[in-house]
Amino acid sequence: MKFGYFDDVRKEYVITTPTTPYPWINYLGSQEFFSLISNTAGGYSFYKDAKLRRITRFRYNNVPLDLGGGRYYYLYDEGDFWSPGFSPAKKELDSYECRHGMGYTIIKGKRNDVSTEVTFFVPMDFNGEVHKVIVKNEGESKKNLKLFSFLEWCLWNADDDDRNFQRNFSTGEVEVKGSVIYHKTEYKERRNHYAFFSVNAPIAGFDSDRESFIGTYGGFDAPKAVVAGQSTNSVADGWSPCASHSVEISLEPGETKELVFILGYVENPVEDKWESKGVINKKKAEEMIAKYATVADADKGLAELKESWEKLLSKYILESEDDKLNRQVNIWNQYQCMVTFNLSRSASYFESGVGRGMGFRDSNQDILGFVHQIPDRARERIIDLASTQLESGGAYHQYQPLTKRGNDAIGGNFNDDPLWLILAVVAYVKETGDYSILDVMTPFDNDMSKATPLADHLKRSFDHVINNLGPHGLPLIGRADWNDCLNLNCFSTEPGESFQTTTSKDGKVAESVMIAGMFTYIGELYARLMEKIGKQEEADRADSEVAKMRQVIMKDGWDGKWFIRAYDDFGKKIGSDECEEGKIFIESQGFCVMGSCGIEDGKAIEALDSVEEKLGTKYGLVLNNPAFTKYVVEYGEISTYPAGYKENAGIFCHNNAWIMCAEAVVGRGDKAFDYYTRIAPAYLEDVSDVHRTEPYVYPQMVAGKDAKRFGEAKNSWLTGTASWNFIAISQFILGIQPDYDGLMVNPAIPKDWNGFKVTREFRGDVFKIEIQNPNHVSKGVVKMIVDGSEVAGNVIPVVGDGKEHSVTVIMG
Ligand code: BGC
Ligand code: NOJ
Repeated sequence: MKFGYFDDVRKEYVITTPTTPYPWINYLGSQEFFSLISNTAGGYSFYKDAKLRRITRFRYNNVPLDLGGGRYYYLYDEGDFWSPGFSPAKKELDSYECRHGMGYTIIKGKRNDVSTEVTFFVPMDFNGEVHKVIVKNEGESKKNLKLFSFLEWCLWNADDDDRNFQRNFSTGEVEVKGSVIYHKTEYKERRNHYAFFSVNAPIAGFDSDRESFIGTYGGFDAPKAVVAGQSTNSVADGWSPCASHSVEISLEPGETKELVFILGYVENPVEDKWESKGVINKKKAEEMIAKYATVADADKGLAELKESWEKLLSKYILESEDDKLNRQVNIWNQYQCMVTFNLSRSASYFESGVGRGMGFRDSNQDILGFVHQIPDRARERIIDLASTQLESGGAYHQYQPLTKRGNDAIGGNFNDDPLWLILAVVAYVKETGDYSILDVMTPFDNDMSKATPLADHLKRSFDHVINNLGPHGLPLIGRADWNDCLNLNCFSTEPGESFQTTTSKDGKVAESVMIAGMFTYIGELYARLMEKIGKQEEADRADSEVAKMRQVIMKDGWDGKWFIRAYDDFGKKIGSDECEEGKIFIESQGFCVMGSCGIEDGKAIEALDSVEEKLGTKYGLVLNNPAFTKYVVEYGEISTYPAGYKENAGIFCHNNAWIMCAEAVVGRGDKAFDYYTRIAPAYLEDVSDVHRTEPYVYPQMVAGKDAKRFGEAKNSWLTGTASWNFIAISQFILGIQPDYDGLMVNPAIPKDWNGFKVTREFRGDVFKIEIQNPNHVSKGVVKMIVDGSEVAGNVIPVVGDGKEHSVTVIMG
């Protein structure tokens, strides 16, 4: 069942009912000010950091769902009232539509012959949300309406806001000036920032105290002031400050009224907070309000935003015979990559924004799908990440986006972490040709006195693996590798307890075949990069370590029909036929094959066949099989999940992409693409009732075949799935791969494809690539013609003239 449709021309998903199977959200903002917005306008905003600079309040896991807070509008019409986005008033609407687009959301609702359309967006270079509201009288008689706005302020630190009521109920402060409501809690002592909510019209009244607006025992569905059709002009003094305007709107039949509301965030110089004595310096807010003073200004801001997205998305455009594929590649997957790049795993409808900052492993992977869009920001992020690396080559697992400091609370010692940095840097250099990044003096643990060139950080990442090998010569797993739940050194004795409590021995036994596989793939990339910058000796050293690791994998990491997953702290195999449950895991199959293990002797193919046989389902590949039904204390968190969920045999979409890449490496384009379509959201739109999360973005996990709710997705939006699936489709299946000296073309496609076209902007040139598949093969380029002349091999050389170039590629 579907609950909307794709409008590819406008690059929007159009939701046609407010009661989607789960709130279907969008993100506004892509620089410093961010918002989450659901299809009924629920959600919240923050500046840079969802924990430390939360601007509006949101209650997670709220009942009813998606009524945890939002930017809400209510229309009051002589005793009746409703919300144009259905919630929170939940009055039946005569029509409803929500269009989620690239950085904006439009919600329309009609009742009593009054249609309302609200466009929400964060303009470029603007620390605020603009809401353009259009109210139209579609009836035959005059309407005397009132429009109420409403949002609730968060007292800045979302974590504290949620816990420290004994203090927070007495700190809230606001100021109301004309049509602007300022939130200035703690402005005079601790803060140099404030927020405001304005409207570009005279107001009939306002409320800034939540209780006065809603009533002590009321709810968002029927606030007292809205029911009465009258604001109370409350000025908050402690408790819960909010911001609500009421605006009188009288409309003749056919008449329209347009308004612009702005929710803004301002930071003044730090000195201000000492000198202000609580009087806000409003200059910046006034400038922001003036910038979008009229509807024409708002329209201009929206047009600029759309223009900027057109530009970003023009860097990789696919024309294939498959509309679903086109919309995945050209619109939604790239859009999701931007969002994951910006927010890592911090703030979604499944991640509360207070638990996690920017993940070292996560953000490095996010760069892979994003670097072609804004390489400069990728460069900055790489340096931020590398600056949290430790001298040992290990890393803080996360850092707080506001401070950019490693987050001790989360800890480190995830032994896969360092390798992802190499992968991100290689992707950056291949995309841009900018080797100078390798010379950037980069601190360890943010301590500039210990800075070394980035190239040295990569060396330490590489060496971190070989300095931490276990009894078989495989990499020690540390606290966990990519699979957070495989905690072989830190299991607890009580199920349900924290899994980081007891360390069994000294962490010198449990080994990861996945990290070994990553090392063969990423280590080889490191060697080629070193070669490229003339460090042949280092390249040779890396090559020989990688070759050694391949041998170790084939000797002690091969189980007979697939790669084993790990050795536990007692030296026992995990992910082996010998095991009672969890006999095969997906991660090592993907990375070992990508790292060219078992290619010559057919073992790679054998491993991939085992993946299909044991892990395949119609909704994607499960992570392991059979699922754990028993609790295995020495494996840590993994087996605590019920069978079929999350890391215990859920369909973890992130690692499905590694199998697509591996299938492409062995040349099986049909299988690679088949796996792609099993999890790509656009192909699942028709089963939205089963899948439940947004049909335009990937979820982290879909319940696996052993789960009671097989096929149901969770944790949409913020997942490495976005980047890796973009890599799988754009670079491995469609096969357009940035390389040091040009664009390599190496597709691995289904045999029945006749071909496809890709427009790829690369280092300033635009390549119009047409790939023809006259002999219906999966892999193999036999001829390549660039601007009319045949070029040997399959790398399109960089031209560097900033012009358009035509490329024809014949497969065979
Ligand atoms: C989840 C993982 C997640 C981790 C983050 C675990 O409980 O299962 O998916 O990566 O928490 O710390
Ligand atoms: C989600 C985490 O963000 C990521 O770092 C991890 O690799 C996966 N879960 C798998 O456990």
